[in-house]
Amino acid sequence: MIDIHNHIIYDFDDGPETLDKSLEMLQIAADQGITDVFATSHFNELIRPEMEHDYFKKLQILRSKVESSGIPLKLHSGGEMMYHHYIQDTVKASRVGTLGQKGLYVLMEFPMFLMPNGAEEAIFKLNMENFIPIVAHPERYTTIMESPEKALKFIKYGALLQVNCGSVLGDFGKTVQSAAMWLIERQFVHFLGSDAHAPKGRSFKMKAAAEYLAGRVDEYYIEKLVRGNAEAIITNDPLEKVEVDEEETAPKGLFGRFRQKFLR
Ligand SMILES: [Fe+2]
Repeated sequence: MIDIHNHIIYDFDDGPETLDKSLEMLQIAADQGITDVFATSHFNELIRPEMEHDYFKKLQILRSKVESSGIPLKLHSGGEMMYHHYIQDTVKASRVGTLGQKGLYVLMEFPMFLMPNGAEEAIFKLNMENFIPIVAHPERYTTIMESPEKALKFIKYGALLQVNCGSVLGDFGKTVQSAAMWLIERQFVHFLGSDAHAPKGRSFKMKAAAEYLAGRVDEYYIEKLVRGNAEAIITNDPLEKVEVDEEETAPKGLFGRFRQKFLR
């Protein structure tokens, strides 16, 4: 399996505080059958060259420790970029802006409780610059957990979706779990990510999430969620986007349909 979203770099963001804890987490990942990990620490518009330097220094230390400890796993660079209205410029100017420094896939997140007005525009602008945005954990944003069909707008504007393993397993509550499953069952999602932060609690749970999905969704699709699609990030190939029709993004309920017809 390949994990494209986690906070494995020690003493950097809200991930592990020490190198030992990072290694403990990576051992857990390897034990589950994870072979590749994109270390996607939090970054935002305040990104500075010194921060990137610190990130790459720690990534390198972690790589050599992984090797000397015999953990069978490969580390790739990356970042989880917080939405801001000139995100495309930040991505272009940074080394962590695209996954694996390959200049194509951008893992981005939004504030949890209030979806900014410019969300779709930011996705569109990234697309215009030939990036492929991946929206991290759409199921966890308040507006989407209540109406998961709202995540389809991201797809329409050119994004791929990454759902958290913990969401699938119900770690963030029933509403988030239902939203995650709504998106996965309709195959609107391209990746499962661990969003691991610590050796315990918010850890790597990819195997458990894949097991939960087995029998609930198509086996071939699960394979794509945990490995196949992420391979395209490593090989730097563009993935096929999901087709979304107007009906699916339409607001639900009587008032929603009225609003769509008359108030747009
Ligand atoms: Fe994250």
